[in-house]
Amino acid sequence: MSIAYLNGDYLPLEEAKVSPLDRGFMFADGIYEIIPVYASCPFRLVEHLQRLAYSLGEVSINNPFTTDEWASICHTLIDLNGGGNLSLYLQVTRGTPLIRDHTFPHNETPPTVFAMVHAMTIPTASPQDNQGYRAITLADLRWARCDIKSIALLPNVLMRQQAANQNATEAILLKHGNAVEGAASNLFIVNDGVIITAPLGPDILGGITRDVIIELCQQLTLTVEERSIPEAELRNADEIWITSSTREVVPIVMLDDKPVGQGKPGPFWQKVAIQYTQFRRQLCGLEPL
Ligand code: PDD
Repeated sequence: MSIAYLNGDYLPLEEAKVSPLDRGFMFADGIYEIIPVYASCPFRLVEHLQRLAYSLGEVSINNPFTTDEWASICHTLIDLNGGGNLSLYLQVTRGTPLIRDHTFPHNETPPTVFAMVHAMTIPTASPQDNQGYRAITLADLRWARCDIKSIALLPNVLMRQQAANQNATEAILLKHGNAVEGAASNLFIVNDGVIITAPLGPDILGGITRDVIIELCQQLTLTVEERSIPEAELRNADEIWITSSTREVVPIVMLDDKPVGQGKPGPFWQKVAIQYTQFRRQLCGLEPL
């Protein structure tokens, strides 16, 4: 049985309960993080906690903990759940006032803090295991502050389900003529040997994996451009990848039922995926493969 954290207590996940008046339940008024844990070692923990602090600040929810206090909760939860490869979920909402009212509750209302872990399957860098990933394109239905990791995910949920209904692993979102990111991932394309990803700003979530991929490309002396990706460029790309904490870097081989490049994982994806595997193994003190 998995152990969760709720407002200071560690308890079985099934026993973790919040009030229906919680601002998260009423208004989706909260922020979350997902942190991959490899061999009990949380990956880029400080960066995830910095993004959590940023998102909380942008919506004026008090950050209940320092980075060290958050780290201690994360490590305790990992230990209580037996360690291993996990995805660690953190959520902070604007707390539980006594009435439903759109305006912020009284300053003294403490935020609701919840955390849990799930088992995580580690992706592989083998082209054989990555042959089948399809994506569709959809108009981006979301709001104007996609840089905030808000728990208000209804547009993402609807778009991701539309992709799933078409046997696709992700919806790639189009906004003002540009491809911005996936419904739950960042987007990279490769064209003529150059790796391109949409720039940081309010149209995308600043993915922690996105940053890692950019660093790894630089280590591999590959050229990376952070700039807008016009829809036509997406459709003509030699390679398309999506990236996220739980999926690392995934090659998309079909876009809207048309093959991407040769219709199989490309050579740039392969290099970067291998580098990613080695990098996270090294960070967790594991031998290179
Ligand atoms: N999603 N963009 C969006 C809209 C996302 O929801 C995510 C992650 C990313 C990638 O961010 P990162 O590399 O930091 O995981 C980009 C998580 C995994 C989720 O909601 O399940």
